[in-house]
Amino acid sequence: MTFRAAVITLYPDMFPGPLGVSLAGRAREEGKWSLEAIQLRDFAADKHRTVDDTPAGGGAGMVLRADVLARAIDHARAVMGDSKPIPVLAMTPRGRPLTQARVRELAQGPGVIVVCGRFEGFDERIFAAREVEEVSIGDIVLSGGEPAALMLLDACIRLLPGVMGAPSSGTEESFENGLLEYPHYTRPAEWEGRTIPEVLRSGDHAKIAAWRKLQSEVDTRLRRPDLWERHEGARVQSASGAR
Ligand code: ADE
Repeated sequence: MTFRAAVITLYPDMFPGPLGVSLAGRAREEGKWSLEAIQLRDFAADKHRTVDDTPAGGGAGMVLRADVLARAIDHARAVMGDSKPIPVLAMTPRGRPLTQARVRELAQGPGVIVVCGRFEGFDERIFAAREVEEVSIGDIVLSGGEPAALMLLDACIRLLPGVMGAPSSGTEESFENGLLEYPHYTRPAEWEGRTIPEVLRSGDHAKIAAWRKLQSEVDTRLRRPDLWERHEGARVQSASGAR
């Protein structure tokens, strides 16, 4: 089954961009996913191909018009023509932070329609009118949603069946168990006077697994107290049988 992606953007030339090479590029050649970059401007109604207007209430910047966005989304839905509804996501720093869990859900579905913002943002009415999910890739502000869309698609594509070489590397990594992954080392065993942890050279797989689990926990506590709190909360809750 092909995972189908449509991206609505003012800059279709940005796609596939980095997704045209390496793992994602090969997977696309193999038909594991498809991409359609849709020019938002094609859905403007005037001869100047206007897609935006000044914010109601005044203020800086421009806002993408709901009517233009709606026509582009309706077009994307029509060309995707799947029996299952394809989720529509708008990339915006106002959105809900993207999680690995959401990426996994999306990757298991028929595909995505991704709308990239520019300027000050979207006319708010589009979200309810077309069931659009607002998604942010983190607490940073990009000049537009395109790099965020590339990130979202990359994260989905690598999870598609047959895309990743070693299946275990898709499940043992950061966030898949709610924690950061443990640190890695490779040869040479000594480099610039720095050695690798002795346990990793012990050949004792149980000891190595225990060490990795501990590192993963310590690093998560130190680097991502937010993730750690959630992880501990879930653990305590499941141990007490609470629901
Ligand atoms: N567009 C601008 N900034 C963004 C962000 N952090 N996430 C998603 N889309 C964006």
